[in-house]
Amino acid sequence: MAGKNEFYWRRLHSLLGVIPVGLFLVQHLVINHFATQGEEAFNKASGFMGNLPFVIFLEFGVIYIPLLFHAILGIYIAFTANNNPIRLGWFRNWMFTIQRISGIILLAFIAWHVWETRIQKAFFGVEVNFKMMEEILSNPVVLILYIIGILSATFHLSNGLWSFLVRWGITQSPKSQRISSWVMGIVFVVLTIIGVRAALAFVYPDLFVG
Ligand code: HEM
Repeated sequence: MAGKNEFYWRRLHSLLGVIPVGLFLVQHLVINHFATQGEEAFNKASGFMGNLPFVIFLEFGVIYIPLLFHAILGIYIAFTANNNPIRLGWFRNWMFTIQRISGIILLAFIAWHVWETRIQKAFFGVEVNFKMMEEILSNPVVLILYIIGILSATFHLSNGLWSFLVRWGITQSPKSQRISSWVMGIVFVVLTIIGVRAALAFVYPDLFVG
């Protein structure tokens, strides 16, 4: 990739990370959070999303194709970018490196997660509901791996939003970038709490439902 073309590819990569992939991630975490209200509430919320008309086209158009594009270009960027946080050692450089590392963790996590919750359903008729997630997450090692996956996703999106705002010229001054760091820090904490609470609710429902 060179010159002007690279500029447009990177812009498209950046945009797709927020719309639709980032929006989908937020929606997904919020729907999962219904698990904290019990099995029935979760099944109802996820059933509503799963029964939307043309759901397969929505899934491909809004999730898989944009995510695949973002991931493929993301791998290229991750392995060609200049990661050097040790020598330069400042906060933003670390964020830049962790952005790439979390992207690679996400690639493995999403592939595994989609296999378990979508592909098996399509090929082997496995039913996707609260019980299925409860079974998957009842293995403590899997629960820990899921929490690592959730943390990677919430970090990647919130830090990604910070760089998105810079890339699109929305936060240009050092002051606006400092404010944006705090706002995205809060976004990270809130999304992580939502995501981790949801995962725990499948295996420790007593923590949430009174
Ligand atoms: C939940 C799924 C994902 C979401 C919501 C997401 C979102 C984002 C966002 C918003 C950005 C910031 C764009 C910018 O800098 O302007 C970004 C950057 C990035 N993403 Fe993702 N992404 C996801 C999955 C992945 C995957 C699977 C990879 C594969 C390795 C990846 C690799 C990258 C890389 C390397 C960057 C940095 C780009 C740069 O600094 O120019 N992402 N992502």
